[in-house]
This record gives sequence, C-alpha cells and structure tokens, in this order.
Amino acid sequence: MAKKYLTWFKNYQKIQSGNFEKGNIEWFIGGKLNACFNCVDRHLPKKANQIALIYEQEEPDQTEKITYQEMKEKVCQTANLLKSLGVKKGDPVAIYMPTCPAAIYTMLACTRIGAIHNVVFGGFSANALRERLIDCKTRIIFTSNHSIRKGRRIFLKKMVDEAIKDLDFIDHVVVHKLTESEEDFHEEKDKWYEESIAKESKECLIEEMDSESPLFMLYTSGSTGQPKGIIHTTGGYLVYAGMTFDYIFDYRENDIHCCVANIGWITGHTYTVYGPLLLGATTVLYEAVPIYPTVERYWQSIDKLKITSFYTSPTAIRLLMTFSDQNVIKYDLSSLRVIGSVGEPINPEAWLWYYKLVGRERCTLVDTYWQTETGGVVLTPLPGVTPLKPGSTTLPFFGISPVILDPSTGNVLTENNVTGLLAISSSWPSIARTIYSNHKQYLNVYFNQYKGFYLTGDSAFRDSDGYYWVLGRIDDVITVSGHRIGSMEIESALVSHSHCVEAAVVGIPHEIRGQAICAFCVLKDDPKKEEQKKDLDSLRISLSNQVATQISRIAFPDQIVFVNALPKTRSGKIMRRILRSILIGKTSQQDFGDTSTLLDPSVIDELIEQVKLQK
Ligand code: WT7
Repeated sequence: MAKKYLTWFKNYQKIQSGNFEKGNIEWFIGGKLNACFNCVDRHLPKKANQIALIYEQEEPDQTEKITYQEMKEKVCQTANLLKSLGVKKGDPVAIYMPTCPAAIYTMLACTRIGAIHNVVFGGFSANALRERLIDCKTRIIFTSNHSIRKGRRIFLKKMVDEAIKDLDFIDHVVVHKLTESEEDFHEEKDKWYEESIAKESKECLIEEMDSESPLFMLYTSGSTGQPKGIIHTTGGYLVYAGMTFDYIFDYRENDIHCCVANIGWITGHTYTVYGPLLLGATTVLYEAVPIYPTVERYWQSIDKLKITSFYTSPTAIRLLMTFSDQNVIKYDLSSLRVIGSVGEPINPEAWLWYYKLVGRERCTLVDTYWQTETGGVVLTPLPGVTPLKPGSTTLPFFGISPVILDPSTGNVLTENNVTGLLAISSSWPSIARTIYSNHKQYLNVYFNQYKGFYLTGDSAFRDSDGYYWVLGRIDDVITVSGHRIGSMEIESALVSHSHCVEAAVVGIPHEIRGQAICAFCVLKDDPKKEEQKKDLDSLRISLSNQVATQISRIAFPDQIVFVNALPKTRSGKIMRRILRSILIGKTSQQDFGDTSTLLDPSVIDELIEQVKLQK
C-alpha cells in the first residue's frame, strides 16, 4: 500500500519498528519522500489542468476553482517566500487562517521545504494562539487580515498582534488579504502575502525528507490545562491518509470530494487536504456554515458542484434536521455516492435522517471514528462492503486491531456484547509519534495506563456481530459540536477571572451539540461578595466572556452554577462524575456511585440545592 499510494525518492528498508511499551513507533524506515511532491507535482503530467481546489465561500455565488498547475505555482512561490524569510527544514510555521487556498498553499509549501506546519484553528482566541506559539517557539506566522463568519468579519490579524505582544521570538507575520480592509500594519514584522509571493519564482526545489521526519503538529485538548502538540510524521501519515481516503470515500477519477471541516482540525488536514490531494482528486474548501445565508447551504453546494462524497458532523445534521425536510428534498443530490459523519457519536435518528433525506437510501453512510492522534479513520464501514447499522461505526479499517478493556482489571474483553475502554493493540502507520517537547506525557497519556495498548480515551460497546458503538470520552474531555475541549482548560480560564477562586467544568448531554458545557464556580470570599451576588447574571456573562477570550467562543459555558464548595476527594481531585449526575437531575445517594473518597460528603446536598435554585 505504501508503494501504491506514494512515490518514494528512496525505498524504505524496513516496514515497521518499535512498540507501545517504549513508545518508539516508526514506519517505512529509511524511506525518503516529500509530501508536497506527492500531493502536487507528481500529478502534473496528467492533471495540470484538472481542478485541485474548489473554494466555496460563504455567499453561494462565491466559488473559485484552482487547477493543479495553478496550485503548484502558488505553492512554489510560497515555499520560496518561506526560504527567503529564513525558514529551514524542521522549523515550525504557524498558520492562523480560515480554510482558503492561501492556507493550503502555505501548508504544502512548508512540507515542500521540510518545515513543520502548525495550523491553529481561526476560531481560537488571541490568548489560545499565544499559548500555542509559546509552546513551540514559532518564529513565523501566516494569517489572514480577517475571516468571515455569517457575514461578519473576524479580525485575525488583530488577534495575532495581540497574541504576539511582547513575544520577542516572532520575526515575521505574513498577512493574506481575504478581502480589502483597513489593518494596522507593522513595517518591521508584517508582510502582505500576495505582494510577497508575487516576487518569488514559480519553481522551487523539493526537499527529500525521511519517512519519520515530522510533517506537521496540531494542538489538541486532553485532561490537563495545557493543549498538547501532537506530532505526525511523513511516510506513515501519508500512506494512511491516502489509503483511508481511497477506501472509505470509494474514490474514483473525477470525483468531487467535500469535507466541511475547518483546516484547524485534523479532519481538515487528512480529508480536505492530504487524502484527496494525494489521490489527485478535486477537493472542496468549504468556508461556510451550514445555516448561512440559509439552511439549504449544504444541499445547494452539493447540487451546484456535483459533489460525489460529502463529510460532515452529527451536530450539523442534528441542527439541519430541525428545519423542514423540503429544504433538502428540493435539491438534486444524485451526484452523491458516499456521505460521512465524524466527530462524535451519531444517534440513530440523525443517522436515518441523513441516510434517507440526503443519501436518498442510495448512498453509503460512513460513520467514521478517529482522533487527532490516530491521524486517519480507524473504525468505519466500507462503501458497498460493510452492512450498516444506524449509530455504529461498525468495524476496524485494515491494519487496526481494536480491543475493549475492562477498566478495573485492564484485561482484554474477548467476548462480544461487552462495554469497556476502547484501545488499540498494535501500531498503524499514522499513529502520532510524540507530543511536542513532552514525550513523557505522550507515554503517560496513551501507553502507560494499560501496558501494551494505545488508549483512546473513549469507551465503546461491541455488539453480538462484533460491531463497535463508540459511547464517548471517559476522561475530562468534552465534545461540543464535534470540537474537543478540555475541562481543565475551561476551568483555568474561569479561575483567571478576578471573582472566581475555583471552578469545575463538565459536559452533559445536549440535543443538537452532543454535549453542553456546565461550570460550577466558587466565588472569592471578600467583603464585596454579597454585593456581587446581587448581580449574578452579569457575573455569569463576565465569566463566560473570560472563557471566550482565553480559549474560544466554542468553549462558552451553557450554564454557570455558583456554589460554596466543589466535591473533592481527599487528595484534592474534583469528582466531576458527581456534578454530571446532579445536573441530569439525580438526587439519591445510589445515583452517585462510590462517594467514600469524598473529603466532605455534605457538599452534595448544597450542590443539589444550588442546581435547583439557579436553573
Ligand atoms: C474524539 C476525537 C478526528 C475526528 C474529529 C475529532 C470523538 C470522533 C467519532 C465517531 C463517536 C467520535 C471521540 C474521539 N469522535 N469521531 N464517529 N463516533 N465519537 O477529532 O478532536 O481529536 O476528537 O472525537 O470522542 O476521541 P478530535
């Protein structure tokens, strides 16, 4: 498969080495290749004039098409710009841009010269961006003057300026102009992207990279207050991206693939950019929300662009289901062959709606389970092969060996009809190789808890047919609208507010977004406290805004409950499980499970009381 999906400059000598005990996984050892060559140059002899990117912007009439030849020229110019700014093999480059052609050129340009791109989701706040820049000491940032969301501009360049205030290691900010707008421009650091690349040559040599050289890093949330810089390497990641894209979306020549995920997430990396471009496909860059300007936006695009495979999230489906079916029925969706779902469990009702209304009971619906760390899909049906069951991610992809572990003993549950921790027992090409500058954390989070297994952090049920049903995270990660957010990250944002001393954050079920964020806050005990309490609602707003500025609007709490104390164990760990039970209306002792480790069992009554009062 490595030879089928990639062109190698030098063959690998060994397919795989390393193990989960040591966390030293390697694939296609000794091989040399280049990601950009595989995604762009090698297609030119046959496909120079084929469309590589279709840029579908917010307004339905804003569509731009870019051929492989045009993309190659822009990528080379961008790569030359990187070089002229002093970027070398192995250097990190931050990309804080909306999903747009210039962002894709920059990603590919990095890989062309062996630099490591670090795409930061454009919905993250200045503060969240700053944290990520500091962690990997990035010298260069590519941004856009602004992005557009539901017709409103979000001033990304301004956020960059705020993020890098007093960071002395930032040398250059390259600013792509999405549309004309007035910007603060700092001559010493800032450069306009379009102007700068215009001066560069349209040819650029390709760096031969080792199979195990880092290809990119991408920050994701875990159980700590700090996001983790997940590292993927070149050979293994690309083999798996190409192969999974081919099999799962049943790729055929002239297909038009549309994955609506933002490039700030792994889904955008693997199934908007790398998978499709490796196969020489046409990929749609979708910078549009499903309900703007109308709730027909998705179906209109499928009809207009004749999209053949379409990939979205359960949240979007659940939202669109709340509007009239006529909005879907009136469009011609006959070009579709495969429709996909990713990011969180899809409930059977949403699955059936998507299957019937959008897939017209004719398309395969692939519910694909994977993670930032897995690099590509690991559980999925294959079109035309796997009998489907609404709500199940069905079976493992080739080369993946999932297991269900008993959480208390760590034993592998070999029978069917079992529920437990979802783990994987042997390595696959695109597994993350490390966490940037923290290999110890990588070992602790994924491999040391149950020796010999990669721990996903999710629980799952395996039914009598051996099908997997992913139930959700068992760690302190919350999935809101398919976005992964750490409880501790929100908690640390809340306690950075001058009135809040302690906070505990949990996710509870939400009809459309999968989970809703609920925060419990303990206020500072000062003389002004009584006064503060009079205006709890404005305090709630101010705390929520703190979360938005520290992290992102996607982490905005749905509910804030003020309490005198949090349920903690004697060792000081917050028992979030108790908070979750109380929020969903549980009140009796049996509902809380084992509470013997609670430092002060009387807090439970106060919590129940406050949740009732503050509803
Ligand atoms: C977490 C990973 C790479 C996909 C985008 C999110 C949840 C993902 C499914 C699915 C049930 C799913 C899991 C996983 N998840 N896909 N098909 N069914 N749950 O990537 O941000 O790294 O989040 O998303 O909880 O651990 P991510």
